[in-house]
Amino acid sequence: MKGTMNKTGYPVPDNVFAETVRDVKHYTDRLFKFRITRPASFRFRAGEFVMIGLPNAEKPVYRAYSIASPTWDEELEFFSIKVPGGPLTEHLQRIKAGDTILMRKKSTGTLVLDALLPGKRLYLLSTGTGVAPFASLIRDPETYEKFAEVVLVQTTRDVAELGYARELVDTLREDPLIGEFAAQLEFYPMTTREQSEHMGRITEAMQSGQFFETTGLPPVNPRDDRVMICGSMAMLKDCAAMCEAFGLEEGANNAPATYVVERAFVD
Ligand code: A2P
Repeated sequence: MKGTMNKTGYPVPDNVFAETVRDVKHYTDRLFKFRITRPASFRFRAGEFVMIGLPNAEKPVYRAYSIASPTWDEELEFFSIKVPGGPLTEHLQRIKAGDTILMRKKSTGTLVLDALLPGKRLYLLSTGTGVAPFASLIRDPETYEKFAEVVLVQTTRDVAELGYARELVDTLREDPLIGEFAAQLEFYPMTTREQSEHMGRITEAMQSGQFFETTGLPPVNPRDDRVMICGSMAMLKDCAAMCEAFGLEEGANNAPATYVVERAFVD
């Protein structure tokens, strides 16, 4: 095979970067984040994903991972679930600083500002690790230049699973580069299986009108609102149907419209 060898002895193909893990943080027994070195030549748009693997086999297993760090960050950050027995995450959850991560060189995705028409308010609807692409977008000044209001919604099973996003939103306010935009961001954390301030699924809360009563925001409408959706397959389907019912239309890179959907599945 064409390519360079890495320290594990397997060759790294020319379309793959071999990067070094800088930092790992576990939030719960199901969720962790990791940061890796960023290749000098690597460019991406906020909201895109890349294929990630480990150099533990001649033919490594690759999975799509949304890049959670902003485009200006010197490192790359990812937020991952740990799936017991999952072909990648079973091993990935054990990585530590200094280990090697493989990353295919091309990033792509539809959860990008280019796929949306201009609007007033941007909703970022997520469940679990679906918040990862939005972790990049809420740290990108362009998001706030394009939208006066950004509403980040994350629904998780319990409060501990909201920890990663909570930490991001809290530190954003003190960030010298992005802190000035913090007033434009609203975080609406929800849980379904543990008591918290906002309970239930986002679909239920928006469809019943309860979300709009609580926040004081007007119901989602195609004139003002744009929506990005990221979560499990069932969540994407239900949220897309809800957006259609609100009168929004699905957009793509070559045909921007009023909402976009993406799956960031890992197993
Ligand atoms: P629930 O507890 O009612 O299943 P998971 O960790 O399984 O990926 O789920 C993350 C969160 O997404 C949970 O709070 C879960 O609620 C919620 N969820 C699951 N399916 C949907 C869906 N179809 N629409 C909206 N939220 C969902």
